[in-house]
Amino acid sequence: MNDKQIKILAIETSCDETSAAVICEENQIHSDQPTANRQPPTIVSNIVSSQVDLHAKTSGVVPEVASRAHMEAIIPVVEKALLQENTKSEIRNTKQTQKYNVLNIKNSDSNIVSNFDIGASDLLQEVTHLAVTAGPGLIGSLLVGFNTAKSLAYALNIPIIPINHIEGHIYSALCGENPKSEYRNSKQHQNNKDRKTQEISNFVLRALNFPILALTVSGGHTSLTLMKDHGVYENIGATIDDAAGEAFDKVAKLLDLGYPGGPIVSRYAKKYREKISNSKFLISNQITNPESTSSQNQCHSVEENPADSAGRCGGDLNIKFPRPLLDRPDFNFSFSGLKTSVLYTVKKLTVNSQPLTAELKQQICYEFEEAVVDVLVTKTMRAAMQYEPKIIILAGGVSANLFLRKRLTEELKNHKTKEHDCIELLLPPLELCGDNAAMIGLAAYYHIIRDDISSWDKIKVDSNLKL
Ligand code: KG4
Ligand code: ZN
Repeated sequence: MNDKQIKILAIETSCDETSAAVICEENQIHSDQPTANRQPPTIVSNIVSSQVDLHAKTSGVVPEVASRAHMEAIIPVVEKALLQENTKSEIRNTKQTQKYNVLNIKNSDSNIVSNFDIGASDLLQEVTHLAVTAGPGLIGSLLVGFNTAKSLAYALNIPIIPINHIEGHIYSALCGENPKSEYRNSKQHQNNKDRKTQEISNFVLRALNFPILALTVSGGHTSLTLMKDHGVYENIGATIDDAAGEAFDKVAKLLDLGYPGGPIVSRYAKKYREKISNSKFLISNQITNPESTSSQNQCHSVEENPADSAGRCGGDLNIKFPRPLLDRPDFNFSFSGLKTSVLYTVKKLTVNSQPLTAELKQQICYEFEEAVVDVLVTKTMRAAMQYEPKIIILAGGVSANLFLRKRLTEELKNHKTKEHDCIELLLPPLELCGDNAAMIGLAAYYHIIRDDISSWDKIKVDSNLKL
């Protein structure tokens, strides 16, 4: 292995985010040390240019539009990742706190325009390895990042590491937020809708204990993977039709809520969940204090419409969606039937061409989210009972879903393995749940330190790449 400190330039373009990141070993004195003794690397920059606004017009990703947008964004994004890394080093050296926008990047709807007066090409010379998503994903999107990385590896004469996108998502859960970081910006705890060119700062990396059970849930994938060591994966279950994130997006489209659907459906579901818990509070308050009024309650009067056992306000419809494949002992998922159930419900409710009220949409979103999360959590816990992992990782775009994070956290708190140890749950920071190049660089780092590297002329892109 190269005995220079490892500095990875990572690129991710598998779907609709153009992203580049720099991952570095810092203060690494002997970089040929055994894996266990090495200091974990640092994410020094992670730039994500999202095409969300572009695809919102069609309520979904149009592959050709996505690849054209990647073409426009890729070089400025790579430049920015390199230059931000450089700026951060300068900041570290001079102990100044500055805002990242010193780099003067302009961001329009789908592309960004670079306007640099320092050469990113100089900084490229310090890169020791390229890392790139090789699949799965949209082929036209993958090819843009893949060929950019391949060309850079050729020109710089350095190794390249092709990374499976799902492996990347799994490694995003290694990142814990560094509470001491000086470089955090206000966007860091906001939702995906705000991601355009997002800058991400320092994280601390957590150690891994194997075996790990990873639930990866995104717009293109829903899978349960048993990870026995770095790079050793066994697929124990996957969706047989739609991915969970895809179902969220389709339900949002059916309800005319916008794109991407996951965050919006989740917000609507949350409103209904709050309404239910308010009405539960009201009922218990009325039992203990019959004089109390319903002034806080947004629902119908409880006397007229008593709440059901779940505490639902009277007047709300009896909507229930199926939990697909939950009665099967395997670890596969199916979400296409669930989406069809939502479609039938919407058709029934709008039969007289009456538009759905916001309240009804909230209830549908709530029932849908409950069904998806129920299936994901139940199957994951069943797999945990069978495989007894030390760690469970939740990853992928849908791992930003706060209700899913909460349910899995609660289930695990109550769960004990046969040895009476609690299983640790690793959740990626919210800003690393969606597609980003930092996760690709991190996964690549663990390939590099076990000497699993390649050269530009040996790697292949595969839109159906398996882990
Ligand atoms: O991993 P990702 O960014 O791209 C793929 O690899 O597909 O995942 C995107 C998916 C979208 O379907 C989006 O609707 C979903 O993740 N998503 C969510 C949430 N945030 C993003 N789904 C449910 N709840 C969320 N909060
Ligand atoms: Zn993804």
